Amino acid sequence: MGESLIDKDIRKARTLPSRFYSETEEFERLKSVFTGWQFAAHQSELDINAILPLPHIEAINSESMVLVRGEETNCMSNVCTHRGMRLALEPCNKKSLRCRYHGRTFHLDGTIKHMPEFDQAIGFPSQDDHLVKFPLRQWLGMYFTAVEQENTIPWEMLEQRLGFLHPEAFVFDTALDRDHTIEANWMLYVDNYLEGFHIPFVHPELNQALDSSGYVTETFEGGVMQIGKAVEGDVKFDLPEGHPDEGQDIAAYYLWLFPNMMFNFYPWGLSLNIVVPVSTNQCRVLYRGYVKDQALAKEGAGSILDTVEDQDQWVIEAVQRGMVSRAYDRGRYSPTMEQGVHHFHRILYQAIQRSGR
Ligand code: FES
Ligand SMILES: [Fe+2]
Repeated sequence: MGESLIDKDIRKARTLPSRFYSETEEFERLKSVFTGWQFAAHQSELDINAILPLPHIEAINSESMVLVRGEETNCMSNVCTHRGMRLALEPCNKKSLRCRYHGRTFHLDGTIKHMPEFDQAIGFPSQDDHLVKFPLRQWLGMYFTAVEQENTIPWEMLEQRLGFLHPEAFVFDTALDRDHTIEANWMLYVDNYLEGFHIPFVHPELNQALDSSGYVTETFEGGVMQIGKAVEGDVKFDLPEGHPDEGQDIAAYYLWLFPNMMFNFYPWGLSLNIVVPVSTNQCRVLYRGYVKDQALAKEGAGSILDTVEDQDQWVIEAVQRGMVSRAYDRGRYSPTMEQGVHHFHRILYQAIQRSGR
């Protein structure tokens, strides 16, 4: 099985074999793609709580992390260096991190501050007693962290496209939080997200709000951008002079970052979906909302999110059942409508090959 599993030429390529969606061995192999960049939190969440544990990242890649705003902001291990207890259990604003097991205390920069009953310990504290720091990157007010920085994301290019929205000024709105469990493999959720092909068939209401003839898909290293055009009289972005899409009527930018993050930018703000793999036939999708303009949230392409979500879940759960059929293995891609899915399968396969699993 070489690099040619998914042909580079979409006109000839066949989709990922169904075992990738249905077999435990493949599910385990694919876990290796989750150690690269992951969304940690938006700046507005850190404004509320200086100590922010990141349970969603632990659910994704088994690494317990905590984001801490001290003199500088760091993403650190949330595991006590004494005997491995979890440090921060809830978001809070304490001035230090104190372990609830035996009282080891850390400064907000992760260095050890105090440990009871260790006066006689030799060579203590050492470098190993401080908390390990993980890579951290801030992009348009959003923090990203990684276990290892293995994937490249063209942050600057994406900033040119989306920076005009000033997402750093958006505000986290807990009323938009959702946590859905879906009886389908995480990749089916991504596959479905990466094509607008199904919109007229699965989402009649959304279809009315979008001009499907103007739906554009762009692929780049580490992700896919889909652009939804607005219909006459609809809410659309006010694009500044010199913007790459100047002059177009755009209702939404749908940005997917490999492997599991979806940033849906609407004139009202940002709806973020994070897909958490659970098993071959189950995933969770976490939703978070960051609002720019509350009044606009009720209009346009971003206003029927819950309906669209139910429709998508219904269809991908049905596809999951198709993945175990003896009669189905691989399909083909529409060369005009499924460039995003094709790109995802290619970079996914390249990533597992790189990881040598
Ligand atoms: S495990 Fe944290 S102080 Fe013992
Ligand atoms: Fe959909």
